[in-house]
Amino acid sequence: MDKRTFLKNAGLVGLSGMLGMKSIASLVETVSAVSPAKLAEDEDFWAAIREGYRLNPDYINFENGYYNILPEQVLEKFIGHVKEVNFQGSYYMRTVQFQNKKSVAEKLAGIAGCSPDELIITRNTTESLDMIIGGLDWKPGDEAVMAEQDYGAMLEMFRQVSKRYGVINRVVSVPDHPASDDEIVNLYASAITGKTRLLMVCHMINITGQILPVRKICDMAHRRGVQVMVDGAHSFAHFKFSIPDLDCDYFGSSLHKWLSVPLGAGILYVKRENIARVWPLLAEAERKPDDISRLNHTGTHPVHTDLAIADAIDFYNIIGVERKEARLRFLQNYWTSKVRNLPHVILNTPADPARSCGIANVGIRGMKPAELGDILFSKYRIYTAPIDGAGVHGCRITPNVFTTITELDLLIKALTELRQATS
Ligand SMILES: Cc1ncc(COP(=O)(O)O)c(C=O)c1O
Repeated sequence: MDKRTFLKNAGLVGLSGMLGMKSIASLVETVSAVSPAKLAEDEDFWAAIREGYRLNPDYINFENGYYNILPEQVLEKFIGHVKEVNFQGSYYMRTVQFQNKKSVAEKLAGIAGCSPDELIITRNTTESLDMIIGGLDWKPGDEAVMAEQDYGAMLEMFRQVSKRYGVINRVVSVPDHPASDDEIVNLYASAITGKTRLLMVCHMINITGQILPVRKICDMAHRRGVQVMVDGAHSFAHFKFSIPDLDCDYFGSSLHKWLSVPLGAGILYVKRENIARVWPLLAEAERKPDDISRLNHTGTHPVHTDLAIADAIDFYNIIGVERKEARLRFLQNYWTSKVRNLPHVILNTPADPARSCGIANVGIRGMKPAELGDILFSKYRIYTAPIDGAGVHGCRITPNVFTTITELDLLIKALTELRQATS
């Protein structure tokens, strides 16, 4: 059956109605021969996916970077897990809880491309990366390298480690429009000294959406004997890569971002040879030094969220990472290409597909980001994230796979009309 007939039979062309997980799989089957780039432009297909999301009609959500809401197909499964755990109570907690979490972590390792022995489920990126920053055996005078554009929570943790252990933090500033990978690699290299032990780098900078050449940075740092910790909050399940291919030492991400898992789930990857080096945030009973479960003591926590991760992975696998990446890339290019050359508009995200994907940041010359955010919301009902710091002044625009061209056209119209506000 072709896609059009399928959608007609499912009553979806022009009507509303949500496909179940199996029907989405059948729909995707009808387009299996279509290239991800071509499918990215197929509004009928993505409209069928959109039907699965309960979207607030009061505003257009261009702030999917904080939290990717769940499609109803996953939300329903999650609610089912909440009910089931509540039904079984302590019996569940004392019997299959840990085995279930382990199986889910194995499934996650499958999409991360790593060994299950190198990955644990945490609550979020902050917990994952702060465990590494706080858990290394720092000595006074040791140095760490990071960027002004890194996420605040990790920078704060490095400041604490600096006060506590006398670590020296060297902070670089990443340009919004680098001329080459070498420019970025050399920037990080310039901050390394004989005392540097750890380099933190964002895979995708959260305020601009710029993707950094992480593999090249890892290679450079390793040649100098420096370990690399990657902040993958925005890269995991957003575009295609495998964690081992980055050859980093540590990698953290939040699953409530691009994997659309219920709030409060993350991953920490630790390359096997580094596991024994890290002191856990919360102590676990005696384990072998290289057993990653040493780092995974949490106390009692929302176990139904762990279970829903498996459903979110099913949904993600049905759509397929290539299709998802292509759709997000298409949406970003659609709007940025129409405003990038307007004289009053400042695009803070590179156009190069190797350096960006779904997220981009836009400013208006002479206008504070907060004011731009206010105008977009009050006049156009467009919700964004204004950013005013670390050399970036503009609103972060984060569509999701369900975003429509019509919604982006409104953003383009708004940004075009804002010329008057500046003239
Ligand atoms: C680059 C980056 N790192 C870390 C985080 C922290 O994520 P969480 O609050 O889920 O720990 C974020 C959140 O937006 C982020 O964008």
